[in-house]
Amino acid sequence: MDSPYSETVMDHFMNPRNVGEIKDADGVGTIGNPACGDIMQMFIKVENDVIVDAKFKTFGCGAAIASSSMATELIKGKSINEVLKVTNKAVTKALGGLPKVKRHCSVLAEQALQSALNDYYKKEGIPSPVKMKSEEEILAE
Ligand code: FES
Repeated sequence: MDSPYSETVMDHFMNPRNVGEIKDADGVGTIGNPACGDIMQMFIKVENDVIVDAKFKTFGCGAAIASSSMATELIKGKSINEVLKVTNKAVTKALGGLPKVKRHCSVLAEQALQSALNDYYKKEGIPSPVKMKSEEEILAE
């Protein structure tokens, strides 16, 4: 049977990058999908407005694991301003696509990142430019 997943998705599922947590993280975001029960947690370390490290822990499906792995790869080394533009679409594109029924898994990665950024801004005492979006809002974009 042909796999509905790209080689990149399978690679990030079988060999996920940046698994774990950052003990002294500058931002932590935790997001769950009530429909499937999957949970994603993202940790970011920020220095001079640059994401110098990112890690994740995902209790979820293969597409969610691949999405969080790719999301952490996409944001590492980028400035916060660049990271603010990283969406689920960017994650999905970098993964070589996801089956339509699995698009919500990449949404979790965007929401976990938004949540971690909000936590970072809160800890810094800076008003956050990030507006948390629902799955419906993200998928409608
Ligand atoms: Fe829940 Fe993939 S099935 S995130």
